[in-house]
Amino acid sequence: MAAPTPIVLDVDTGIDDACALLLAGLHPGLDLRAVTCVGGNAPLPQVVSNTLAVLHTAGRDDVPVAAGAERPLLAEPHDARHVHGSDGLADLDWPRSPHAPDERHAIELLRDVLRAAAGAGERVTVVPLAPMTNIALLLRAYPDVAAGIAEICFMGGAANVGNATASAEFNVFHDPEAAAVVIDACTDLDIPIRMYGLDVFYRPAVTREQAQRLIDADPTGPAGLAGRLIRFQCDRFAADSGTIGDAGAVCAVIAPEALTTRRLPVRIELGGTWSRGRTVVDLRDWTGDLAHDPHGQANTRVEVALDVDADAYVDLWLDTLLRGTP
Ligand code: RIB
Ligand code: CA
Repeated sequence: MAAPTPIVLDVDTGIDDACALLLAGLHPGLDLRAVTCVGGNAPLPQVVSNTLAVLHTAGRDDVPVAAGAERPLLAEPHDARHVHGSDGLADLDWPRSPHAPDERHAIELLRDVLRAAAGAGERVTVVPLAPMTNIALLLRAYPDVAAGIAEICFMGGAANVGNATASAEFNVFHDPEAAAVVIDACTDLDIPIRMYGLDVFYRPAVTREQAQRLIDADPTGPAGLAGRLIRFQCDRFAADSGTIGDAGAVCAVIAPEALTTRRLPVRIELGGTWSRGRTVVDLRDWTGDLAHDPHGQANTRVEVALDVDADAYVDLWLDTLLRGTP
């Protein structure tokens, strides 16, 4: 059996960040080395508390958690508690962890983990599931960490749709400058980068009945938390199912074959009245006469997810959560 894949997550826990943390902490094929937090769905202190609580529920108090950026590089922060609940975790009043976060700043924890991996001849998969402020700061402050990165597989952006605005996805809209820096740095540092965006994000969805099965299987454990998070979405949006969201980007690390991607030029719109934060994915499938395109083609190349085997990712997530339940 292959050695587990070393990964780190950067989160703004958040309901679907929690779904991702449970999968990353419990799946035997992953070696979760660290989790870093950034303000996004909820203010940073709440994100840190929620992240510690979720890892404690999963029995993963061994995973270091560090706080990072409280706010975007330049943009004004706008949280998403209208989606994730006033506490950022479905207003479950879920038990808190007794543990404190790592004393290091998020970018120092990531620096140390990635340098140690490089020193051991390993490469870590970095999975940003939030505004990419921490990742941008990391790559500009400590570019040598690229030697310890296998790829960046981030949840964010979209080729065709928006959610925070008609044009932009929440994580990128929250900190467009950070997203632009990360994509630019990946090009400079030759770090492979995959975009798990809204074109696939909502497709892996868990039904209310499946959520109830999780709750019944282990009411106060990881499965019970996972089921309650899905049920909250169903109730909040009067829907029969709820997306595993960010957890899909972790599924993409475990089962990349279930994701269809195209290697495409991507720019981030930093200006624009109605389009700021848009991931401008160049889907043109002709070399054409770019000489007449005043912008020219972006020099970035991102593996953009355009299709997903949603059932495969739902099954992967459910099986991992139900495995080992009493
Ligand atoms: O647009 C979806 C993203 O925004 C997800 O990461 C969700 O957690 C929110 O942060
Ligand atoms: Ca998130």
